[in-house]
Amino acid sequence: MTMLEKLESAYSTFCSELENLTTQADVLNLKSNYLGKKGQVSEILKSLKDATPEQRKEIGPKANEIKTKMTADIADKLASIELAEINTKLAQNKIDISLTDSVKEKANFHGGFHPRTLIRQEIEDIFLSMGFEVLDGPHIDTEFYNFEALNIPGDHPARDMQDTFWFKDEKSEEGNKHLLRTHTSTIQIRGMLDRKPPFKFIAPGTVFRCERTDASHEMVFQQLEGMMVGKDISVANLIYFMKQTLKEIFKRDVEVRLRPGFFPFVEPGFELDIKCQVCSGKGCSVCKKVGWVELLPCGMVHPNVLRAGGIDPEEYNGFAFGLGLDRLVMMKYGIDDIRHLQSGDLRFNSQFGDY
Ligand code: DAH
Repeated sequence: MTMLEKLESAYSTFCSELENLTTQADVLNLKSNYLGKKGQVSEILKSLKDATPEQRKEIGPKANEIKTKMTADIADKLASIELAEINTKLAQNKIDISLTDSVKEKANFHGGFHPRTLIRQEIEDIFLSMGFEVLDGPHIDTEFYNFEALNIPGDHPARDMQDTFWFKDEKSEEGNKHLLRTHTSTIQIRGMLDRKPPFKFIAPGTVFRCERTDASHEMVFQQLEGMMVGKDISVANLIYFMKQTLKEIFKRDVEVRLRPGFFPFVEPGFELDIKCQVCSGKGCSVCKKVGWVELLPCGMVHPNVLRAGGIDPEEYNGFAFGLGLDRLVMMKYGIDDIRHLQSGDLRFNSQFGDY
């Protein structure tokens, strides 16, 4: 066989061997068998030294041509093996991006109102129909609006009744430090300063207390403040409005009791308790085993508070109340732990609004 024929036949066996290979390792092996230092092509070329100059002229280019073809064939083969491997991997790790039935169900879910919002809207409607305005106020407020103007000076023991989140703002003047409001009563002052009697308003909103949480206490909760100022307003007016409101909210007669209560911003002050609707008065974690829940502290506005709101207590008087909205929601729906309200758990939330 001439050297040319040897080269041709080496190429054709190379091609048929290459065709059957399926792994990169085998291809690389074949490459070194043919093109490596001791590979077939190199071996053939070694015998060039015995060839005549004419033969060399012919064989040299042919050998290069075959080497180039082999290198290209090997590159093609490696590329096709790599592609095949990618395809197998893709087929194995198949990700189904089409919508499944359960995803479709979730996509139809359009949310709904939190039970707190439902009750708040209901109460707002009740009060709007009685001619009250609905006011709002800031969450971050000052010591003045939260305490001082409400007849709770700096050294007053009543400050300890409300564990406060204070801001570290050294720049604020003494007596006017910033805090997260501990109650919506701040809006009593803001409301009075902005209007002339007679007026009546409610103010629902979030309040904050630096407290340990349990089944009936949260650090972040909701209150609804109410205030009515005018001439000759009496305790009887206050009790009428409170009872009327509860009746409308519960849409049934709920047992209530009125006790004297102490709050520096009202005189006299009352606690309006409601029979625990979670345990029907038998005693549970929500009512702390007493069967009653403090729901509606209220009273006749203290003259000092009217003065702080720019109102002459000789001429006007009024009542105020601070409804515990979260407790009310719990009583209305029989919820046994206040922490559910803040949990954001859809299993809880979806029981109420339109989901
Ligand atoms: N601000 C009081 C609190 O959070 C509740 C309260 C009591 C509000 C009596 C009132 C009121 O308006 O008259 O504990």
